[in-house]
Amino acid sequence: MAGGRAQRTATHKRKHADARASLRINMAKKNEKRLKVLVTGGAGYIGSHTVIALQQQGFEVAVIDNLSNSHAGVIDRIGEITGERPEFHEFDLVDRRRTASFFAANAGLAGVIHFAAHKAVGESMKDPLMYYRNNLISLMNILEGMRRRNVANLVFSSSCTVYGQPDELPVKETSPIKEAVSAYGNTKQMSEDILRFSVHAYGIRAIALRYFNPVGAHESALIGELPRGVPNNLTPFITQTAIGKRECLSVFGSDYNTPDGTPIRDYIHVVDLARAHVTAVERMIGKKAKSDYEIFNLGTGKGYSVLEVIRSFEKVSGRKLNYRIVGRRSGDIEQLWADTSYARRELGWKAERDLDAMMLSAWKWEQALAQSKE
Ligand code: UD1
Repeated sequence: MAGGRAQRTATHKRKHADARASLRINMAKKNEKRLKVLVTGGAGYIGSHTVIALQQQGFEVAVIDNLSNSHAGVIDRIGEITGERPEFHEFDLVDRRRTASFFAANAGLAGVIHFAAHKAVGESMKDPLMYYRNNLISLMNILEGMRRRNVANLVFSSSCTVYGQPDELPVKETSPIKEAVSAYGNTKQMSEDILRFSVHAYGIRAIALRYFNPVGAHESALIGELPRGVPNNLTPFITQTAIGKRECLSVFGSDYNTPDGTPIRDYIHVVDLARAHVTAVERMIGKKAKSDYEIFNLGTGKGYSVLEVIRSFEKVSGRKLNYRIVGRRSGDIEQLWADTSYARRELGWKAERDLDAMMLSAWKWEQALAQSKE
């Protein structure tokens, strides 16, 4: 009996001690100064998914976005998903003084993830100067702010477009950079050069992430790709056709030198992509980077043709897609997919979601959008 009581008392004491300890940890966590990361373009497609991934990893996030191709409502949606609305600043990073005063007022940033940029290939051919001015000047303003305020770590949003049509597939980070086929692609090549020279001169660390074809949406279906007007990219065009917003998808060319004649791309789920940004920023904060400037391919390593993407969409949605084969789209390359071994080895990151998961999440997002408008 006495032994039993002693045991009960000991258990009781231990429980109290555990409760006090966990209270102390929670209070410490509350008071703990969280590391803060700036996400430019954080209201946009990849940016918004990355803000969520950062918050879920314990980072505090500040977003700068001029809402030129996004909506302020996305910031509220992020708050709904994570329970924390990120700090939001609406301005254009091309504005040098405004950008400088942001950095002056935000000392102690742990890093910057820079998404804010124009990204439509076709538009960049119609107005190249708009692309050079926006994409290059904003990057330079950010680097200047980082240099002045001693912010060390930058993750830059680059693109597989820097490779053009490579001679060898899958394409490696060390594969040669070909002459750009669009002004957009050229801004990414030039940005990478700006970074290459700036890191050494200003004591900054940078990681450029070369995305392949980001698609899909967050599993909550609260955020996703929200193109303004007629979409340029394949996946939003597919989902908008299936929901009835567009009559018919045009498949641009079936006479390419690929198994079914349609071009091949490496589609990657935006949630996998977002996670890679957190890994990259943590790598630099933890001083694990091998050099001041690193480059990684972000893809799945698998290529799918346009017709395979359509088939996957039809399978997961249970809908027949109205499409027709038309002529080639100018500027399209034939096939491109990533060698992902360097990212796997060095970053310890690999894409986990397959094409069906990408199509299903994109479809759920389109359906949620349609419902919210009803
Ligand atoms: C391009 C750029 C990429 C950029 C992205 C964002 C290259 C190699 N890639 O990707 O860097 O980030 O745009 O805009 O320059 N397709 C159709 N019908 C359509 C739309 C697309 O058949 O209505 C086909 C295209 O011919 C292509 C594939 O679908 O084969 C993917 O096209 P898209 O989603 O526009 O992306 P990319 O052109 O590969």
